[in-house]
Amino acid sequence: MLLTAKEHIEWYENDTLQQALWLSASDHAAPARIVIVDDKTTADDAYRLACAGTSMLYRGDFYNARQLLQAITRRIERTEKNSTKRKSKKAANQSTKDAEGAIESASKHLPNLFHQQRQTTAQRSRILSRLLLELDADYVSSLRRAPDISAACLAAFGPLDKQIDKKDESCVLSFRDLQGALGAAGWREKGVPIKELGLSIYPHYGVFAPTRHEYVQLLLDAPLPTVHDIAYDIGTGTGLLAIVLAQRGISQIIATDLTPQALKCASENFERQGLSSIQLQQADLFPLEVPPANLIVCNPPWLPAKPTSTLEYAVYDANSAMLRGVLQGAKQHLSDQGEVWLILSDLAEHLQLRSREELLGWIADAGLTVKYRLDTQPKHGRSQNEADPLYVARSSEITSLWCLQSI
Ligand SMILES: C[S@@+](CC[C@H](N)C(=O)[O-])C[C@H]1O[C@@H](n2cnc3c(N)ncnc32)[C@H](O)[C@@H]1O
Repeated sequence: MLLTAKEHIEWYENDTLQQALWLSASDHAAPARIVIVDDKTTADDAYRLACAGTSMLYRGDFYNARQLLQAITRRIERTEKNSTKRKSKKAANQSTKDAEGAIESASKHLPNLFHQQRQTTAQRSRILSRLLLELDADYVSSLRRAPDISAACLAAFGPLDKQIDKKDESCVLSFRDLQGALGAAGWREKGVPIKELGLSIYPHYGVFAPTRHEYVQLLLDAPLPTVHDIAYDIGTGTGLLAIVLAQRGISQIIATDLTPQALKCASENFERQGLSSIQLQQADLFPLEVPPANLIVCNPPWLPAKPTSTLEYAVYDANSAMLRGVLQGAKQHLSDQGEVWLILSDLAEHLQLRSREELLGWIADAGLTVKYRLDTQPKHGRSQNEADPLYVARSSEITSLWCLQSI
């Protein structure tokens, strides 16, 4: 269950005060001002209302509502594009004045650009989340032509009966959160193909989906430690790394994660692969009451920044807490000659959010040393998109497997 805001909201409709439970998977505050909109509402009006902070409860046709959301998205994109153009022009003027040249100038602004881009994304999410729909306690919509969305909502948000006081009470959520639930249901059904392993992984809503998984090949290529009976997978998510370790012949694998959603997801993926012997523990980093590991694998979130919603916890690691925690605790959990395989991209270094010296310092302070490192260059769409303001950083990104040992 990822829904966080559990307040009641009120609005006037046909001169009557209405009430419903407010649900938000994106941790957005309950809307303060709600107006009723329908098929006659123009995209320009809806965009203007959303930008002014007014939430719109849709009454009418489900597909028209989806089109309205797309139209608002296009207007946001247009505004963002114009703003990026203005900023690029300013940066270009700046860089011609800069004796060191354009690339150095662009690099200099990267941390700011990164934070600006996150702010833009958050603002976009806030605006888009202002188009709302009402569902009954079984997640059924009474909008015209509404498809059956109950199963997707139930899988994503959990049963409502625990949160709703009366059975006939309705709930209100954003179309955007609904789209997230429907998208997740699609992934969960069709899976993410991992060609390196010859199988698919089935992510659940709110669990890190390994759509970009160039690091799997690194885990297949790394030479196993001489003794490799027991391994931990810290922060298992969908269970992907534990499955790689099982394919490599490690007999006892213990996988941990903080969130129950991840553990449930990993458990289902293990079952699909006939790997029910992989142990799962809900734990903050290391498993409890298990023998020391010959191998500890961990793929922590790669960017040291504060997550702004529960859904961002697998991507952003505030103050590199998970990364530093794994490094600090590793020695104490490793057997003699045991190894840590840390999966980390250097994007944070290119964005100047963390330096290589800092990382090496944390490794040394934890009583560990680098035995070797395997590198790969990701080829995902964003790394090749020259229009991306962070292109300079993304196009230079390297993903590595750091093999660490106790000193
Ligand atoms: C980047 S995802 C990696 C998931 C998976 N290992 C993979 O490579 O696809 C990081 C995972 O670590 C989990 N996590 C974050 N902090 C944690 C902690 N303190 N203890 C255990 N797991 C944690 C998150 O819930 C998430 O599933």
